[in-house]
Amino acid sequence: AAALPLPRALVLVGLMGAGKSCIGRRLSDALGLPFVDADTEIETAAGCTVQEIFERHGEAAFRDGERKVIERLLDGQPQILATGGGAFMDPRTRESIRRHATSLWLRADLDLLVKRTSRRNHRPLLNKGNPRQILGALIDTRYPVYGEADIVIDSVDGPVEKTVQRAVDAI
Ligand code: S3P
Repeated sequence: AAALPLPRALVLVGLMGAGKSCIGRRLSDALGLPFVDADTEIETAAGCTVQEIFERHGEAAFRDGERKVIERLLDGQPQILATGGGAFMDPRTRESIRRHATSLWLRADLDLLVKRTSRRNHRPLLNKGNPRQILGALIDTRYPVYGEADIVIDSVDGPVEKTVQRAVDAI
């Protein structure tokens, strides 16, 4: 694939199940830039899973570690960075992303998020109750903030190539 020069990192934001990791990997191929998943980096740094960090240390500690990992990644070479759904909600993390990167919100509707998150069970926020209710409430609180991202792309059901192409065109 042709490598486009991107002066800054491209940070994918959006809710759990929006397809940040999947689209991020494909964008990395399309743009010839490395792909990094912030949650995976956090797990490597902590030596345990996101779920375990939530259980052992609580969400506030996770958010703190998440911000540090993202700030470190933004300091490096331009890359495609998928962030966990809560990262852009933290004012300090959001400020770092807005200052050092181009942000892209992958917007998805509730049905799609429920469908995409139903297969795996590794998300501490969705294990607390009914996933549809939880995701619905997160849409209400988070979508106004995700709307501050530089680019908004609708993540729809179907071939990912379409979503990837729309993102490439928008960048
Ligand atoms: C979270 C999303 C998760 C992970 C953690 C918290 C959130 O990442 O960071 O479980 O607050 O929305 P994904 O969006 O990649 O599932």
